[in-house]
Amino acid sequence: MAGDIANPTEQDDLQRVLGPWHLIALGIGAVIGAGIFVITGYAAADFAGPGVVISFAIAGVGCFFAALCYAEYASMIPVAGSAYTYTYATLGKFMAWFIGWNLVLEYLATSATVTVGWSGYFTDFMRYLGVTLPMKLSSAPLCVATNIHCSTYSPTASPIDAALSIGFTGAYINLPSVLLVAAVTVVLVLGVRLSALFNNVMVSLKLLIVLLVIIVGLPHVTAANHTPFIPPNAGEWGHFGWSGVMRATGVIFFAYIGFDAVSVAAQETKNPQRNVPLGLLGALLVCTVLYMLMSYVLTGLAPYTALNVSHPVSMAVANIPATAWLAPYVNLGAVIGLATVVLVLLMGQSRIFYAMARDGMLPPMFSVIHHKFHTPWKGTIVVAAACATLGGLLPIDVLGELVSIGTLLAFVIVCAGVMILRRTRPDLKRPFRTPFLWLVAPAGIVTCSAMMYWLPKDTWLRLVIWTAIGLVIYAVYGRRHAKAAHWLPQKDSVEK
Ligand code: ALA
Repeated sequence: MAGDIANPTEQDDLQRVLGPWHLIALGIGAVIGAGIFVITGYAAADFAGPGVVISFAIAGVGCFFAALCYAEYASMIPVAGSAYTYTYATLGKFMAWFIGWNLVLEYLATSATVTVGWSGYFTDFMRYLGVTLPMKLSSAPLCVATNIHCSTYSPTASPIDAALSIGFTGAYINLPSVLLVAAVTVVLVLGVRLSALFNNVMVSLKLLIVLLVIIVGLPHVTAANHTPFIPPNAGEWGHFGWSGVMRATGVIFFAYIGFDAVSVAAQETKNPQRNVPLGLLGALLVCTVLYMLMSYVLTGLAPYTALNVSHPVSMAVANIPATAWLAPYVNLGAVIGLATVVLVLLMGQSRIFYAMARDGMLPPMFSVIHHKFHTPWKGTIVVAAACATLGGLLPIDVLGELVSIGTLLAFVIVCAGVMILRRTRPDLKRPFRTPFLWLVAPAGIVTCSAMMYWLPKDTWLRLVIWTAIGLVIYAVYGRRHAKAAHWLPQKDSVEK
């Protein structure tokens, strides 16, 4: 049987081996990746200019509200599964399925997106070393009509038609993407301690590169590049001006995805009541500060109009002779950094499936724990296969848009759930209490809903399609097999 609060870990179950620093590193491992290394450039060039620094601050504050709510939940229900488990405990199995299904979007689709970004940086890095990988083996074979290289390319297609008309690029497979997933899977199956060790080493390197860019770049930031800090609106909503800053906030929210992976690992954490809130808030704080500084430096080293490239960070440092030496290290940092994001997110996804299978929402295969490695190995391999298939076949634009909206919805439901549980179960022990909950949770709901609103409309369409698929699976399997929630003590058994 899976562990519960009273009896957390049994012989063949997940192991409690992670401490607060592991968790902060896990959070940073999952968070700093394609968002800052790729998407910031496009958000600055197309929407916000240097004002993207403000977008990072707004998105960080929204995530902070959600993290405070996550922390109360995680301290109260420190078992695997994160928002899915919390929702099961508070809002019942249907909503739990709904949120679990959205978390699949967050973890699985984000990790696949990041493998594609990784493949781009890796291919570039190999070229720097003198090895040219053939395009046919290092790019996506499928595409949508908005892509100029697509067989169904149509410059006049509506966003909906464009999103739904799949075409071909002539490539066979994105092999680096698939190979990265294979390597990460081996580490994940071999154990959470090994995964955390790998993650710690790679996160240290990634942080070093980010800090180098900030420290070396800061003295070379020029006022000319930062003037005007928020370029005037170009005539339509979202194209510079304050509306551009808002639009960019929705886009760069991707950079924050993953901090909640800390709570997914609650069942593998020592003293989770204390360490999970520490890990969540610590990771988020570090990342917000680094993002604001990094985007300030990037837009200060190069004109924002020049940042719309696939490698904006190395491009910006290469723009100034005094910082140009950093460019290859930045590319190496991105290769390492993006790999850790994939590692932590795939770990998170397998734990969410583990929790869902434990509750009967998914077939029991997903909750089988390896007797020696203590990892949900079968689930991990299935999740990895799905990630490799998505990452091997689809381009980054199709994948990237899918993910933020599902995550934001999960955040909204967590903020609401914490308030509901305060009302319905005031008797429960809360080792961490969200401060000023009645302000923080509504503020989290408003900020995250606003970021959903600022996302492109075809993202909403994909969310609807995704939800419909989820509802069919729930009706056919989950609804019939789901067991009753069992993580919260019954009302009459709580000590007064
Ligand atoms: N936050 C993660 C990234 O930016 C998903 O890559």
